[in-house]
Amino acid sequence: MKKSSKNITSSYVAKPGEVDKCILLYSGGLDTSVMIKWIIEKYGCEVITLTLDIGQKTKDLNEVRDKALKLGATKAYIIDAKQDFADNYITKAIKANALYEDAYPITTAIARPLKAKWAVEIAKKEGADAIAHGSTGKGNDQVRFDTTILALNPEIKIIAPVREWGLSRDEEIKYAKKHSIPIPIDINNPYSIDENLWGRSVECGEIEYIDREVSYDALAWCRPPEDAPDKPEYINITFHKGIPIALNGENMELWRLINALNIIGGRHGVGIIDHVEDRIIGIKSREFYEAPAATIIIKAHKDLEKTVCTRYENWFKPIVDKEWTNLVYSGLWVEPLTKDLEAFINKVNNKVSGTVKIKLYKGNAMVMGRDSPNALYDKKLATYEEGQLFNQSASPGFIEIYSLQSRYAYQLNGGLNIEPDI
Ligand code: ARG
Repeated sequence: MKKSSKNITSSYVAKPGEVDKCILLYSGGLDTSVMIKWIIEKYGCEVITLTLDIGQKTKDLNEVRDKALKLGATKAYIIDAKQDFADNYITKAIKANALYEDAYPITTAIARPLKAKWAVEIAKKEGADAIAHGSTGKGNDQVRFDTTILALNPEIKIIAPVREWGLSRDEEIKYAKKHSIPIPIDINNPYSIDENLWGRSVECGEIEYIDREVSYDALAWCRPPEDAPDKPEYINITFHKGIPIALNGENMELWRLINALNIIGGRHGVGIIDHVEDRIIGIKSREFYEAPAATIIIKAHKDLEKTVCTRYENWFKPIVDKEWTNLVYSGLWVEPLTKDLEAFINKVNNKVSGTVKIKLYKGNAMVMGRDSPNALYDKKLATYEEGQLFNQSASPGFIEIYSLQSRYAYQLNGGLNIEPDI
């Protein structure tokens, strides 16, 4: 008999009957709540939920735990991973000035390997043989989760119910009602939202009309710039080896500093990003992000890095940063090249220490000054004032040799720089 394409499954996709215990990455929302029942029903296995606190603001995590247990989970883990997320994942994005396609601070992407790592860890602890996640079959997250999970544990099976079940929204709600799964009060909210310390990603609804301005009801962290204070606010961020360590002179753990900057930046409407994005699977999608802290920190970091690096480093590092960002966006956290590039990025960042002054004003974060013991800037060389040290009389000799080839080539074809006919 010919197999329908629906029945073709990759070897790592769990089949009913081969799973005893499953760890479900649980957000507490409708999709993952339906999954608890659906997995128990379809796979006849035990479900343990895992919810990571990575700075998402929408849910009370004690309620999330209670809900999971009420819906049939045998255990519900809630783990505070804010520090792990900030120190071991966000730091890398900062050092790489990570902006995918020059726009998106990889806010969702950077959290996926952390979730995968924790899921594999809890699966090991619980002796589970499968991990379930809520990704669809059209997005990037399935690629990120499956790749990282399988790299960390090649034996584990994966269940991605939304990719499998083919339920429409209405069918899902019907299923939820039938199984007494609470329907969220904001069920008519058209947006799909993913939130963590590093930013808030919004998809769906009117955002899908790429020609239309996204209405401000998609905003939760940022004020519309026109409603931001009329007075600018100045802040100072201090970096040590590429990592922010103090805000306005006060030392702070990175996750707290990011939290504080999200509030301050959001107040000034900083970090609103409208982006038509190239997904891994080839689809272009319109995404809407709020990332005040990420926007401010990357801007400050880039400026400081430029001040302490030579021009050759400044020409080359953005190429490495871009490659690293593309790899992480594309779910290849475990790829050796990602780590190889990190070695270079870390090396350069060893000297990125100092303080950057930023002005926040109506949607903008502007660098107003920087100070570093490693700055390659020397006022005595740069100045046009008295007391300058640069030997201007050496310049003509330099220019004569430096421009030799270009001048020669220009003259070769009659001085008009015309390419010879071939
Ligand atoms: N496009 C972004 C990414 O792939 C964000 C996805 C966010 N997901 C969501 N449900 N809003 O990293």
